[in-house]
Amino acid sequence: MKAAVFYEHGGPDKIQVADVPKPQPGRGQAIVNVKACGLNHFDLQVLHGWTPLEWGFPFWGGGDIAGVVAEAGNDLESFKPGDKVIVNPGLFCGRCEYCIAGEQSLCVNYGIIGDTIPGGFAEFIALDESNLMRLPNDISFEEAAAVPLVFQTAWRALVTQAQIRAGEDILILGASGGVATAAIQIAKLAGARVLAVTSTAQKVQQVQKLGADICLNRNEGDYWSTLAELTNNRGVDVVLDSIGAATWENSLNSLAKGGRLITIGRTTGDIGKTNLKLVFWNQLRIIGSTMANQKEFSDVMKLVFQHRLRPVIDSVFPLEQAHLAYQRLDNGEQFGKVIITINN
Ligand SMILES: NC(=O)c1ccc[n+]([C@@H]2O[C@H](COP(=O)([O-])OP(=O)(O)OC[C@H]3O[C@@H](n4cnc5c(N)ncnc54)[C@H](OP(=O)(O)O)[C@@H]3O)[C@@H](O)[C@H]2O)c1
Ligand SMILES: [Zn+2]
Repeated sequence: MKAAVFYEHGGPDKIQVADVPKPQPGRGQAIVNVKACGLNHFDLQVLHGWTPLEWGFPFWGGGDIAGVVAEAGNDLESFKPGDKVIVNPGLFCGRCEYCIAGEQSLCVNYGIIGDTIPGGFAEFIALDESNLMRLPNDISFEEAAAVPLVFQTAWRALVTQAQIRAGEDILILGASGGVATAAIQIAKLAGARVLAVTSTAQKVQQVQKLGADICLNRNEGDYWSTLAELTNNRGVDVVLDSIGAATWENSLNSLAKGGRLITIGRTTGDIGKTNLKLVFWNQLRIIGSTMANQKEFSDVMKLVFQHRLRPVIDSVFPLEQAHLAYQRLDNGEQFGKVIITINN
């Protein structure tokens, strides 16, 4: 089968389409014929080698998969060939203390499709039944592939971890990103006021169209001062920070007393400066969040299936142009999700 593989770490120019062996279904597994697969920033990090790749080369990424069940392994109970499915990219053991408590994203062996195992930038993938969910007919494969990873991450971060409430001020950084475009919608649905920061005038307009109440351009003036003024120097209740090193210190500074800083990523680096006096005197909470548990995934998917949360698609590339899709995300040109489609 065809896959968009890389044989060594590096930039988007390392991606090429090659023939790799078609997977066989294990017990309780389905072979999914991939129709569309979304790119995440995470795929860039895997390609660049930010985290050690245990699988070896060639490798191919892609966790956000939508497709059709092509083959059923022994004991596959809930799906049959021909079923349209959407995939939850989280991999968990189901047996550890966290899994037993229903906290799958804390699993001691937690992994993600497209990192722990090769992903969906390929014609077929073998997946456990627990990763599959039926896809309604009124959602296209491209739309579906724009959803699972970023919506579950934004949902757990804002709803479970930050416990956002109607009337609160929520600051969302890197607002054109995949998680951020999901987070803006979730925060609005919860009744919060959304303040957002992005990087170009065009993106400012797109972010406002998506529902943000206020959007600033980080390349124009001192946006942190403007944000403070917009809250009458009170500060915001919650910051969703996926940027890391470049914004961490200012994110903490921008919080109101009792505010919550939710960290879900570090696009610009792992280390941020923390003023401890600010944290204890203002009684701030710094909360980490990763992906979601099965219940949160199902809760947020329900809202997507009801069209109350909408996939945000930036662009669609065929598998043969996967390197261009990676490049677009690497350049930070996108608004929302870059999708790769597979014709087979
Ligand atoms: N913990 C988890 O479970 C989890 C899940 C998903 C993602 N993540 C992490 O969260 C981050 C975002 O992921 P994503 O897939 O949403 O990424 P994405 O779609 O590639 O978006 C990243 C956005 O960050 C902004 N950005 C980049 N460099 C910046 C800088 N120097 N200063 C300020 N903003 C900058 C840009 O937005 P603007 O152009 O709008 O400024 C860019 O579009 C990644 O680091 C990813 O690994 C973590
Ligand atoms: Zn586990």
